[in-house]
Amino acid sequence: MIRTTPDGAGEGRTSGGDSGSKRTAFDVVVIGGGPGGYATALYGAAAGLDVAVLELDKVGGTCLHRGCVPAKEFLETATVRRAVAGASTFGIGPAAGDPSPEVRFEVSQQRKQQVVDQLFRGLSGLMKGRGITIVPGTGTLLPGRRVRVTAADGSTSELEGANVVLAAGSLPRTIPGFEVDGTVVLTSDEVLDLEHVPASVAVIGGGAIGCEFASMFSDLGASVTVLEALPTILAGCDEDAAAVVARSFRKRGIDVHTGVQVTGHTPVPGGGGTVVSFGEGGQVTVEAVVVSVGRRPRSDGLVEPGTGVVVDERGFVVADAYMRTGEPGVWAVGDVVAGTPQLAHVGFAEAIVAIRSMLGEPVTPVDYGAVPWAIYCHPEVAYAGMTEAAARAAGIDVVVKKDPFGGNSRARIIGETDGLVKVIAERRPDGSAGRILGVHMAGPWVTEQLGAGYLAVNWEATPDEVARFVQPHPSLSETFGETVLALTGRGLHVG
Ligand code: NAI
Repeated sequence: MIRTTPDGAGEGRTSGGDSGSKRTAFDVVVIGGGPGGYATALYGAAAGLDVAVLELDKVGGTCLHRGCVPAKEFLETATVRRAVAGASTFGIGPAAGDPSPEVRFEVSQQRKQQVVDQLFRGLSGLMKGRGITIVPGTGTLLPGRRVRVTAADGSTSELEGANVVLAAGSLPRTIPGFEVDGTVVLTSDEVLDLEHVPASVAVIGGGAIGCEFASMFSDLGASVTVLEALPTILAGCDEDAAAVVARSFRKRGIDVHTGVQVTGHTPVPGGGGTVVSFGEGGQVTVEAVVVSVGRRPRSDGLVEPGTGVVVDERGFVVADAYMRTGEPGVWAVGDVVAGTPQLAHVGFAEAIVAIRSMLGEPVTPVDYGAVPWAIYCHPEVAYAGMTEAAARAAGIDVVVKKDPFGGNSRARIIGETDGLVKVIAERRPDGSAGRILGVHMAGPWVTEQLGAGYLAVNWEATPDEVARFVQPHPSLSETFGETVLALTGRGLHVG
């Protein structure tokens, strides 16, 4: 099979080698089988390329085994408990004031694992069906697009790729003074293996992961404290959306401290928890600490000296808009790439860009400023495009409209009225709203509602264009429709 790359790397190369595990030469060797890596493999195989994926654990990576999927499954458990606890307001179940519903966490764990295992089997089958070779082991890029494979028993072998894709992903960051022990100090990796719900939890870092776990533990009955260094939780989100979550957390008794540095912790003598110190003399005694202060690239030992691949001072692999590294024929996708959002779906998008670039096909680079974000705490947050603050900081004159879910009939029906939709548009010289720059949502099922907003931002649509489209009634999506209509200057409900 003849493959060319924009660099000319791999040109004229044939995918040869023996069949089965003895094969050593491929069109594409992918190091890492997470979302970035498996999407590269699936898309590449769909394009007829002969692909090998090196994976040191299980294909599916952090997202499937230690991140998005199991975390969202537990968040669904939390949602079910919240629904059961609130059932009496619908006239269902025990009278208000009865003991809150029991959580049998071992059942939740089993269910979570079933979901993960089913998806893992599905993914493995799909990869096998496409003829992708999965090689167990840890990969290291050597000069000449060779890859050393170190197996679990320490033995090594080598593969060669006409192209090599670095997709090694990321690991939870930790902070000094908080050694992860899996029982008291946890990262997202360990939280997902807990056997019971701790009675009290301190969450360090109020970003996406921190807010999801804070929300989940609170809904499962734990008392939760969030300790965030910045002045707000969810600092990357639009401030109105972040404020919805902050308000909801407060109402549910989650103790949020912002603008505080965490200085250390002292285990309670005899076990059973630890005292976390923060800010100016603040202390909280908890059974468990969840450290969610970001993720670092998994690039230790990924690239041997002698290639043109640049790894920056923080360990991220530098790639251009076409996912090319500094070494011809070597590409990078996913969380390991410098300066890009660490999101599974960004990995999927980059995989497509990498394969199409490799094949010399027309390709549109990922627009990182307009990718969808979805945070699954309660209430959920979802957005695409610029925040109001970012637009103003960039010197853009904007028109902004917000519509709270409180006025939405479906939100009233389901009893989930916290939240809003906010749309930010460029102000035209005549003062009217032009191109939609950002759509921000907080509230019920907004991670499923973002689609229309995502399209509006990425299609560079104007409110007049989008407001023509009809939303079903009664539906949560009417709030987006109404916000956009209001931007035309004539909202039905929003002025
Ligand atoms: P993050 O970077 O989103 O948030 C970490 C937070 O910790 C920041 O607000 C930071 O100010 C704070 N922080 C850092 N050091 C601290 C300290 N010593 N004391 C107190 N606060 C401190 O990282 P997070 O939440 O760990 O997520 C990692 C990556 O995974 C992110 O890129 C995130 O976007 C992605 N992710 C996305 C999800 C989603 O979209 N649903 C879910 C989970 C993760």
